[in-house]
Amino acid sequence: MSELKNPSKYLGNELKYLEKVLEGESWSATGGSWTIGLEQAFSKRIGTKYGVAFNSGTSTLHAALEAVGVGVGDEVISPALTVIMDSTATFHANAIPVYCDIDEDTFNLDPDKLERLITPKTKAIIAVALYGLSPDYDRILEIARKHNIAVIEDNAQAVLSTYKGRTLGTIGDIASFSFENTKHISCGEGGMILTDNEEYAEKCRKLGGHGFKNLRAEDGRVRLNADMFQNPAYKRHDSLGWNYRMPEFTAAVAYAQLERVDELVQLRKDSAKVFIDAIGDCDFLIPQHTPDGYVNTYYSLGVRYLGEEKLGISWADFRKEYVKMGGDGYYGAWSVPYLEPVISDKVFAKRLPSVYENVEYHEGLCPVAERVQKQIMQMKTNYRDLELAKQKADILNKLIEKYR
Ligand SMILES: Cc1ncc(COP(=O)(O)O)c(C=O)c1O
Repeated sequence: MSELKNPSKYLGNELKYLEKVLEGESWSATGGSWTIGLEQAFSKRIGTKYGVAFNSGTSTLHAALEAVGVGVGDEVISPALTVIMDSTATFHANAIPVYCDIDEDTFNLDPDKLERLITPKTKAIIAVALYGLSPDYDRILEIARKHNIAVIEDNAQAVLSTYKGRTLGTIGDIASFSFENTKHISCGEGGMILTDNEEYAEKCRKLGGHGFKNLRAEDGRVRLNADMFQNPAYKRHDSLGWNYRMPEFTAAVAYAQLERVDELVQLRKDSAKVFIDAIGDCDFLIPQHTPDGYVNTYYSLGVRYLGEEKLGISWADFRKEYVKMGGDGYYGAWSVPYLEPVISDKVFAKRLPSVYENVEYHEGLCPVAERVQKQIMQMKTNYRDLELAKQKADILNKLIEKYR
């Protein structure tokens, strides 16, 4: 078999745009034009009024939580199968994560289990599009609206995914995206807030930009008027913020990636299809179920491995065999967040003992998520050459046949 290599990640204008940033005066979003260009292009492409660039898809979540009014001791519901960042952002907003169990087939938050978790302290729901698949937003929004709770879309893994014809990012009150190294659009590290709500956009801008008072929902540049800025009497800050800004270099790379977003997303979808076809009707590998009316953009292909019960072969041994045959190693799903030591050992409680004194999480809290997490194989989809995906999928198919 010929040795194929995954083509480079930058096949477009990345280098050209980076040079332009280097040649320019401002390497920061406070004065440059690449970040604002990226914000405008991304929000236009997804379909929202405002885009606010951040340095990660975690700082976005932190800002979004504060922007929608989450504060000390409030509760934020997030799914029990997702990365730790939905929880850590909640802790950083001085709030309490509450975990909603998932649906076994879609791996996403199960709306049937949502409403019973709502208390007078619930202020927001973070709905995650796991592996590129939208959660059931009609039902989530119905419950959220009934109880006056904000919905934050976490679309770190879902660029151009759709739900019943609507693009993710345009459905909830505010949406978060990540441009981290492994994501559909990547610039190493980066993120974006999208919203139609001017107040939320401006709050996010200020939360992520040192609380400069002249920041606006639609513009992150602060040094536009030299006379004003150079005056010693000028007061700059009217709110508390952090520095979560995206640098201009990062924005330039993300901009070049965004120009090719259709191609990048299609490659993930096509790669996933190649693996789904290779799995076929295998009864011990069950891919994430994409319901009718949803477009999954497959950040990764999530597959449940049932070979422990059906074949007597452990998850790890199946993986070992696949890699030995030349397959790409697949990842396991991250632990459910509340069983990570930072949460299970109550490390978080140190930051605000009075709020977290009685907050406890334990094994068995969300049984479906705990079971499915142990089964999931996250198959790679970021092949930039479909022939390479086919080679790897063929190896998986041979392994399946061996055990049939
Ligand atoms: C679902 C989800 N949310 C949030 C994040 C955090 O994004 P970042 O790594 O850009 O901070 C990630 C990235 O790993 C993610 O997959």
